[in-house]
Amino acid sequence: MNFTNIAVLVSGRGSNLQSIIDNIENGTIPHASVKVVISDVDGTYALERAQRHGIEAVFVDSNKYENKASFENEILHIITQHDVGLVLLAGYMRVVGPTLLTPYKGKMINIHPALLPSFPGLHGQQQAFDHGVKVSGCTVHFVDDGVDTGPIIIQRCVPVLEDDTANVLANRILEQEHKVFPDVVRLFVQGKLIIEGRKVRITD
Ligand code: GAR
Repeated sequence: MNFTNIAVLVSGRGSNLQSIIDNIENGTIPHASVKVVISDVDGTYALERAQRHGIEAVFVDSNKYENKASFENEILHIITQHDVGLVLLAGYMRVVGPTLLTPYKGKMINIHPALLPSFPGLHGQQQAFDHGVKVSGCTVHFVDDGVDTGPIIIQRCVPVLEDDTANVLANRILEQEHKVFPDVVRLFVQGKLIIEGRKVRITD
């Protein structure tokens, strides 16, 4: 496995994917390259973004596989062909199962739009907003076999303001996502993240 070869799993518009690509292209994440982008949804804007940058973009249709293991086996097959050493979940809206996770444990990183362990799962921004929190934010963490439960690498906070809607809050969080995810990718490819149980030590 080559730690500088990255696969990005997506399900939607791909703005986080874009921030990773941009930071690689402008040299902020040195030596890394996105080798393949895989979407579980057909025709996503994320796939188009990948193609625009000359990156292989693949739709893997879960309906074509008889179960989650064989679906994930296909994804695994694609990413191993690219000698991938880091898998990023950038708006990938599925829980990763053992077929894909086991070979990439400690090498798979997710971004979540809330301050974990609060508001895991789908629509983290809306959940936080509906709960009436006064601060929210985003979390970048290693993936484990739970739903958004893996060791936390970096979190960023944003305030929730009086006039916010869930959408305004989501955009404020997204701005931070676009900064923090590339930071984490840089730290990973430079070998500066050390997992110690539940804690991640950053040796920057
Ligand atoms: C981002 O806000 C990301 O944190 C979230 O989906 C959005 C994807 O946006 N991920 C999750 O909710 C995962 N449970 P993007 O496609 O523009 O990067």
